[in-house]
Amino acid sequence: MEFIRGLTATLAVCLTLLAGSTLVNAHGDVTPQPVDTSGLKPLGEEWLTKNPYRGNARALEIGTSGYAQNCARCHGLQVISGGLSPDLRFLDKGDDGDEWFIERIRHGATVNGITRMPGFEGTLNQEAMWAIRTYVESKHEE
Ligand code: HEC
Repeated sequence: MEFIRGLTATLAVCLTLLAGSTLVNAHGDVTPQPVDTSGLKPLGEEWLTKNPYRGNARALEIGTSGYAQNCARCHGLQVISGGLSPDLRFLDKGDDGDEWFIERIRHGATVNGITRMPGFEGTLNQEAMWAIRTYVESKHEE
């Protein structure tokens, strides 16, 4: 009897862990992932405020995987938010959206001392950031 009870408890723990890890996977990887930006025009040291890659097919491709690996866990797969983080489909199009985008992705967002979004400066290069912007804007909705 004691044995059965122990077994049931162990099983319950296993199922909980399993459910937990599936949930994490569904939202993408948790550690920031470097993004391979080869094939994109290098942008140099100076930070731009407008997307230099708008309409660039290679940027769209790189941005699609860069987003999936670094942003989807909070902002949702395919840029459709589950509600806990802003839905980036509604971010302004064009230059206005660009400026806010680069500010947020570089520095993240801290509210009342709590990091709600990590900054990606130092993890992603500028080329990767604008590639992700290219992907996000391709999903824009009014
Ligand atoms: C740990 C969760 C998390 C991750 C990972 C994350 N974000 Fe965020 N992001 C947030 C939250 C939460 C906010 C809202 C912050 C606030 O309260 O202003 C936000 C805000 C933003 C905004 C501003 C949206 C608006 O409507 O003002 C942009 C742009 C953005 N994130 C882009 C990104 C991109 C691009 C990535 C991937 C490189 C990313 N985020 C990764 C949680 C996250």
